Amino acid sequence: MQNFTYYNPTKLIFGKGQLDQLVEEVPKYGNKVLMVYGGGSIKRNGLYDDVQSILKKIGAEVFELGGVEPNPRVTTARKGIDICKTEGIEFILAVGGGSTIDCTKAIAAGAKSEHDIWDIVTKKASAEDALPFGTVLTLAATGSEMNPGSVITNWETNEKHGWGSPHTYPRFSILDPVNTFTVPRDQTVYGIVDMMSHAFEHYFHHETNTLLQDRMVEAILRTVIETAPKLLENLDSYDHRATILYNGTMALNGMVSMGYHGDWATHNLEHAVSAVHDIPHGGGLAIIFPHWMEYSIDENVNRFKQLAVRVFDVNPEGKSDREVGLEGIKKLREFWNSIGAPSRLADYHIDETTVDLMAEKTVVANPSFGNFKKLEKEDAAAIFKASL
Ligand code: NZQ
Ligand code: ZN
Repeated sequence: MQNFTYYNPTKLIFGKGQLDQLVEEVPKYGNKVLMVYGGGSIKRNGLYDDVQSILKKIGAEVFELGGVEPNPRVTTARKGIDICKTEGIEFILAVGGGSTIDCTKAIAAGAKSEHDIWDIVTKKASAEDALPFGTVLTLAATGSEMNPGSVITNWETNEKHGWGSPHTYPRFSILDPVNTFTVPRDQTVYGIVDMMSHAFEHYFHHETNTLLQDRMVEAILRTVIETAPKLLENLDSYDHRATILYNGTMALNGMVSMGYHGDWATHNLEHAVSAVHDIPHGGGLAIIFPHWMEYSIDENVNRFKQLAVRVFDVNPEGKSDREVGLEGIKKLREFWNSIGAPSRLADYHIDETTVDLMAEKTVVANPSFGNFKKLEKEDAAAIFKASL
């Protein structure tokens, strides 16, 4: 286990009816509020009206930026930055999923910077400060509600990059499972795949003596595997929505990843696919992750064996370690198929014609990537080809 310092300033407010906490939280940061949201789901399910009436009650002067896209665009972040600078916004409230929150982080940092936000996303400049912001989460998936990370797409250059700064932790996040009831089945599945993928990204590392960390990551995976089919049978179940929502936050708020660095190559691979084809993040991960695992198993076969035995209940008797590891990957594929996740790039009409372009996009920031197994452009192309 490596040395580490853990600090997470986000106040997590979880449970039914917790939206009322906005009354206490928002006035701490100012009166001029920019409310950021997505393509309209919050207008359809009534959350927009609920938030507006609370903001009205506390006398906030409210500005709005709606229409944040899934895979949020840098152009949309720039619009929000303009509003903040022109209107003197004091606080930003994100109401939505990971895309809305990630866009809000870019707006918050850009509003306090002289640099163009794309220079911050691509790390040519750094975020020196950010406007305070809070979130009302509506979709269990990314963990963005309790981490400083943000993923922004530039559609002009077909690039999608993750960035973050100590200034881009939400001040608070309100997680009411009821607000996730209207997430459609496919987006629910993508969220489940995403949080499991965060657990897998953590799990593949070369650090030793991570006994508790391993068990915590395995607990997330086992809990999601147990709960997902029940939730998909009953999308209005408060208990199952709550379990999945809490898992999503825990999978990427730093709690289970202290003292080691996970791999994260598969996220880079998926971001390249989304940058070229604009597919849902969780859908891309479901396709690519099992192929990355098969490509990388010989890097440390014991990690794959441990995962197979402890998470997928593979019986190791009479089998080589490699066979056990491969059986675990097969079981993962079967599980994702069983909940209706996509399994081939062809499911999104992606064929070999863009493999090289996607592979190029994986190495825009660095010539090699992945902490568990180092990958280069040729490796990315091989994994994409296997995923067709
Ligand atoms: O835009 P609206 O109309 O709100 O609809 C959204 C969108 O179409 C809909 N939705 C959200 N909540 C809903 C709902 N529909 C009905 N009822 C609700 N309660 O779901 C669709 C997807 O929303 P989005 O925010 O894009 O999903 P998600 O939370 O999965 O976020 C995906 C983005 O996050 C990035 C991904 O790359 C992608 O761009 N990630 C961010 C991370 C982070 N900041 O830590 C880590 C992740 O690994 C990931 O890369
Ligand atoms: Zn993810």
